[in-house]
Amino acid sequence: MSVTIYIPCDSGALALGAEKVARAVEREISARGIDAKIVRNGSRGLYFLEPMVEVATAQGRVAYGPVKAKDVAGLFDAGLAEGGSHRLSLGDPEKIPFLAKQTRLTFARCGITDPVSLNDYKALGGLTGLRAALAKTPSEIVQTVTDSGLRGRGGAGFPTGIKWKTVSEAKSDRKFVVCNADEGDSATFADRMIMEGDPFVLIEGMTIAGVATGATNGFVYIRSEYPHAIATMTRAVEVARAEGVLGPTVLGSPNAFDIEIRTGAGAYVCGEETSLLNSLEGKRGVVRAKPPLPALQGLFGKPTVVNNVISLASVPIILDKGPTYYRDFGMGRSRGTIPIQIAGNVKHGGLFEAAFGVTLGEIVDDIAGGTATGRPVKAVQVGGPLGAYFPRALFDTPFDYEAFAAKDGLIGHAGITVFDDTADMLKQARFAMEFCAIESCGKCTPCRIGSTRGVETLDRVAAGVEREKNLALVTDLCNTMKFGSLCALGGFTPYPVMSAINHFPDDFAPKPMAEAAE
Ligand SMILES: Cc1cc2nc3c(=O)[nH]c(=O)nc-3n(C[C@H](O)[C@H](O)[C@H](O)COP(=O)(O)O)c2cc1C
Ligand code: SF4
Repeated sequence: MSVTIYIPCDSGALALGAEKVARAVEREISARGIDAKIVRNGSRGLYFLEPMVEVATAQGRVAYGPVKAKDVAGLFDAGLAEGGSHRLSLGDPEKIPFLAKQTRLTFARCGITDPVSLNDYKALGGLTGLRAALAKTPSEIVQTVTDSGLRGRGGAGFPTGIKWKTVSEAKSDRKFVVCNADEGDSATFADRMIMEGDPFVLIEGMTIAGVATGATNGFVYIRSEYPHAIATMTRAVEVARAEGVLGPTVLGSPNAFDIEIRTGAGAYVCGEETSLLNSLEGKRGVVRAKPPLPALQGLFGKPTVVNNVISLASVPIILDKGPTYYRDFGMGRSRGTIPIQIAGNVKHGGLFEAAFGVTLGEIVDDIAGGTATGRPVKAVQVGGPLGAYFPRALFDTPFDYEAFAAKDGLIGHAGITVFDDTADMLKQARFAMEFCAIESCGKCTPCRIGSTRGVETLDRVAAGVEREKNLALVTDLCNTMKFGSLCALGGFTPYPVMSAINHFPDDFAPKPMAEAAE
């Protein structure tokens, strides 16, 4: 009987040598005359174990990892084709604690099958959400999404159902669904993993958004740094179109919906929704003043749903299992699950989907296993480059939009970057200002000028020039940026800066002579 061997084609796994492993497996199969088929699956998100090779056996899947090309011959000697034991054996992948402890709703299929096989997708429950949606009226779909409590996973946490309702009720000859796949935040890769590992779930979610709002065209705006995601999404859209999921009659219904893939312009600010719309229209990626809201006047001035990849990819399961099923996970006003992306100085980096309510400490200490260097954790930046630095004293904060806001932080797109005790928080504060200065679209003064002045002022603090006075100036500047900026790039840069100053004052104090001279 033919054996199926799974080797990820996800960018993260490829960066760790998955392609060489695939070539080595091919060579061994042919040299040993083994009847085997290689399936290039997505990643399950256990990046500390990638490349993770899996074999389908009579007892279920057996995993090995992290596999290097040089390990492959030895793996076959040990009977990899039958799930034989080897020092890289991980057993049933679903039982690896990092995976077993997760609640996988949005990522339920990611990394299990061939990402562009629609048959695999359907075999694992794909398209049931869309079929359920097609049996409802648009307002019933919108109500279902509203009742689920789903909030935008791009950063702002705005209720998805309310946004859809606005677009649905807007009168227009054309409407659009735009998927924001710019994913510019540091430490984030959830959007990429879905697009490379389970692209049909995003296509299904966008199609449901189209049916619910009356939009007939969708665009996925993918950052140019994601060539594999662009290729996989492009292929998946072609397959969906050929199979009648997309096109003039979605799954044989009277609804028309089609999707185009667009490549981003390589600017962080192009992730901001109005800047993204300008970029999609072929204009410079500059932020637009709101109102008008994109929901009323978005792409080419037409009503537009702009949603993050994860928001849209969470919709099929909500339509499939019902809003209560989804809403029953989570805490407070943060319902469902959140894919936390663990990066930086950690033992176990990867994607951990959990119900809202898990604490930062559980993620950093238990799931991520502390730092890779073995040194104490000093700070964790939550929510990308505009997120606050959390000290250990705040590790009891649960993942919940309101709980993070109450601690002067944000969840953002749920990427976390862990730093050990060698991190210099003054340098990190300066980096935040510098990042803002580089990425600013230039439209408003607090951000365009303020960030440059912020870098200069923090440099004076570092040089020991009128330290107290300059720190007070940075605080004042942060207030101006926070309340005077047009968008969250300038408006949120104060979070990393002020959290570094407030939680790590020692790093802003005068340095002992010997250290300062280094
Ligand atoms: C500077 C800046 C960058 C942003 N980058 C992204 C991004 O890469 N991806 C994303 O989904 N949202 C990003 N956002 C948020 C979007 O403006 C918008 O809120 C989001 O796409 C709405 O989708 P959601 O409601 O599904 O979260 C960014 C916002 C700002 C201010
Ligand atoms: S805050 Fe910065 S990025 Fe946002 S509109 Fe103003 S200048 Fe542009």
